[in-house]
Amino acid sequence: MAEFPMSEVPPKIGMPISRADFPAGFIFGAGTSAFQVEGAIDGHGRGPSIWDTFLQRKYPDLVEEYKVATDHYNRYKEDVLIMKEMNLDSYRFSISWPRILPNGRWKSKEGNEPEINYEGVEFYNNLIDELRNNGVTPFVTMFHWDLPQALEDEYEGALGGNKFVEDYRDYAEMCFTLFGDKVKYWTTFNEPYSFAMSGYYTGRYAPGRGFSFSFSSSNSSGQGHNYKSEPYQVLHTLLLAHAEVVKLYRQKFQKSQNGKIGIVVNAIWPVPFSDSKEDRDAAKRAIDFQLGWCLRPVIFGDYPDTMKLYADTRLPRFTDDQSKNLKGSVDFVGVNYYTSLYAKDAVIAISPATTILHSDSQVTFTVQRNGHFIGVESSGAGLPIVPKGLKKLLVHIKKVYQNPPLYIAENGYVDKSDHVSLWGSLCDHKRISYHYQHLYQVKKAISKHGINVEGYFIWSFLDCLEWVSGSTRNSGTNFVSKNKERYPKLSAAWFKFVLKH
Ligand code: NOJ
Repeated sequence: MAEFPMSEVPPKIGMPISRADFPAGFIFGAGTSAFQVEGAIDGHGRGPSIWDTFLQRKYPDLVEEYKVATDHYNRYKEDVLIMKEMNLDSYRFSISWPRILPNGRWKSKEGNEPEINYEGVEFYNNLIDELRNNGVTPFVTMFHWDLPQALEDEYEGALGGNKFVEDYRDYAEMCFTLFGDKVKYWTTFNEPYSFAMSGYYTGRYAPGRGFSFSFSSSNSSGQGHNYKSEPYQVLHTLLLAHAEVVKLYRQKFQKSQNGKIGIVVNAIWPVPFSDSKEDRDAAKRAIDFQLGWCLRPVIFGDYPDTMKLYADTRLPRFTDDQSKNLKGSVDFVGVNYYTSLYAKDAVIAISPATTILHSDSQVTFTVQRNGHFIGVESSGAGLPIVPKGLKKLLVHIKKVYQNPPLYIAENGYVDKSDHVSLWGSLCDHKRISYHYQHLYQVKKAISKHGINVEGYFIWSFLDCLEWVSGSTRNSGTNFVSKNKERYPKLSAAWFKFVLKH
């Protein structure tokens, strides 16, 4: 098997950027999420998540793959050593809620014994200890989409409103209690936008509620599902839960544990399709309907005006108390950026399937304008590569959202695995170029525009399973073979040199 011994790769593989180009204390890390890497789905005391049941129902062929995934559950020590070898400062991972609370709850309502899976707790304790012992800072997501199935069953649909808020607060309290003395960076939710839209609008992701795979098949998991309003209710609930958890952390844990808490949002940078006022307004709506949907509430305590106008009564409203709770409910913001698209005004969204944003936004997207492609090229998985879009997004956040401390929580080159040979996979020059170009824009955002970026996380640390695409997509800096051995790609070696102290 081919291998790049990281120590033997020459320091200059082109791309002149280094740690020294960023402010002191800037954090460089790499990320994964529990369901995408851990495996150990069955046994080990873990309860089923909505992703287990969704795959069984819609993608039975993927079930076997996820049972082992990258086997991170058993190989975390080896993985931490690779992180250290790559000179990474931090590892962004998520805690699987059903791994530590198989039924979703630990506070027993009937006075029974709490249902905690101590093996799961031990796994995260060991992982966190291993990271810290090797000088790698844990950067922890508490929810990366794998909701306990037991809770979903009870909620019967649009994420259960107050019940979810309470359940999530209890679960988060448990995380702070168990791990908070060792974890200094917490994020409540990863990409609430994607969770709400893919889970409850398109139905492409768990729990699969939406107009789903074809227009003829209606919803897939529940009766009476209304895909036009459910995503708004779901995201509203996530925001309320976020605010409660941040309040709890600040009141009860932050001082003694000395950590920070934030949320991770995602955005495509929308470029107006033309100079017309209509298309320029459409691009503004697009950013409000995606980034603003979460960011405006957590910074200013309310939804963007455009959303209130266009989504009308489908968008729930915050009470004064809720709004107060939400306002300023982040110590930092995580931003996930992959691509840019042209945004075009469209009174009627062409069809649900071709609309990326909620059709209420009245925006459609395209990759071409007058025969010109938006990026220089696409990633293997077809996403246009537009590094400048990242800088523009950061400038927008500074301008509109008062320059909060930011972490680029995800940025990476998602490739198709099926057209790449093993050697092609290891020689991932395109991934290096992708990261270099984006890092260059981050550097400019900081030095020229005074944007408060404090860290950058590669997505992903290793080739994790890409949700419904399974192993047919890869984004890692480390290749995972069929028998789960790790092989550093050229990009891992590149990062090692970029990050040399
Ligand atoms: C978004 C998600 O947070 C992550 O789970 C996913 O694998 C990447 N982006 C790539 O699509």
